Amino acid sequence: MSGRRRIAVVGATGAVGTVMLQCLTERGLDREHEILLFASERSAGRVINGRTVRALDERADLSGIDIALFSAGAGTSRIWAPRFVEAGATVVDNSSAFRRDPEVPLVVSEVNPHALRVGEPGAAKLIANPNCSTMQMMVALAPIHREAGIARLVVSTYQSVSGTGQRALAELDAQARASLAGEPAPAPQVYPDLIAFNVIGAAGSFADGDDHTDEERKMMFETCKILEDEEIAVAVTCVRVPVRVGHSEAVNIETRAHLPLERARELLAAAPGVILDEVPSPLRSEGRDEVFVGRLRRDPTHPNGLAMFVVADNLRKGAATNAVQIAELLLAGAGHGLSAPAAAL
Ligand code: A2P
Repeated sequence: MSGRRRIAVVGATGAVGTVMLQCLTERGLDREHEILLFASERSAGRVINGRTVRALDERADLSGIDIALFSAGAGTSRIWAPRFVEAGATVVDNSSAFRRDPEVPLVVSEVNPHALRVGEPGAAKLIANPNCSTMQMMVALAPIHREAGIARLVVSTYQSVSGTGQRALAELDAQARASLAGEPAPAPQVYPDLIAFNVIGAAGSFADGDDHTDEERKMMFETCKILEDEEIAVAVTCVRVPVRVGHSEAVNIETRAHLPLERARELLAAAPGVILDEVPSPLRSEGRDEVFVGRLRRDPTHPNGLAMFVVADNLRKGAATNAVQIAELLLAGAGHGLSAPAAAL
C-alpha cells in the first residue's frame, strides 16, 4: 500500500515500546511514515528520538492514526484499543487482553499471516501479538507441525526479566548490585522472591485455584490457536531466571508422523526467521530478530520424539519485531482495510 501513514506506539517509554521504536527506525518505517508516541501522563512531554511523548488520556487526539502498536499492559489495551479502532486505526496489541477472543487473530508474521486476511473485506482491525514465549516457539515449530503434525509438547521456559518490564529490570539490577557489594538485597517488589542469583520456579501469576500460571496457560492456549489445531497437547512449566533479555526454552516434541532428524534439521534450516545454531544463548540472541534453535536431537525415549533448545530476544521477535512485521504486512497489503491516507500526511 502506498502513501504516508500515521503509526502510533502506545507504551512508547516501556521495555517493549522502546524496542518497537527502534524496529520502526531500523526498518525505515520512521522515514516513510509519521510516528506518534503515547505513554502515561507521567511521561507526557518527554522527547524520544526527537518525538514528544503524548499522554494517553481523554484529551488525546486519536484521529488520522492508521496503525497503533500497543504495549502498555492489558488494562490499558482493554480501555484504549477499542477507542483507537473506533477512531479508524488498526491496532496490533502486544498484551494478553484480546488473544483469547475468537474474533481477534493471533499472528506470528512467519507462521499465520493469512489470519490477518489482508486485502479481504473482513480484514482484522484488532490483531493480537502472541505471548513472547509462545512466539519464539511457534517460529521454530510451525514447519515441523506442517510436515509431521505435532501430537504433544513438553516445554520448560527460562524467561528473562525484561519480559516483566522496566521495573523488574531495575529490581534485578538493584538486588545484584547489593549482593555483589556484600549488602542485603532490597526486598522484592515485582517478583515473589529475589530474582538476582536465583531462579523463580513459576513465571507469571496464579489465578484462583489454578495450579498453572497465566504464562503457562497462555502457551497452552496460544499454541493451538496459532497452529490452528486444537488437538496439540501442551505441557508447560514457565520459570523466571536472572537474565536481562532473551527467553530460552527446552522443547520436547512428539510428532504424529515420524520425522527423521535430518528432515527436521532441513526444515529448520529453511524456516523463515530461524537460525539453526549449536548451543543458543540469550546473550547471543540479544538485539537479533531471529529465533535461535539448537540442541536438535532425537528423544530416545519415544519413536517420534525430538528435542530442541529455542532462544530469542523476547523484546524483539517475542514482542516488538513481530508487531512491526505485522504493521509491514498491513502496509504492504493493497486495500487491506486501512482507510485512504490523510491528504495532509
Ligand atoms: P509510562 O512510562 O509513562 O509509565 P513496561 O512494560 O516497561 O513497564 O512499560 C509500560 C509502558 O506502558 C510504559 O510506556 C508506560 O508509560 C505505559 N503505560 C502504563 N500505564 C499506562 C496508561 N494508563 N496509559 C498509557 N500508557 C501507560
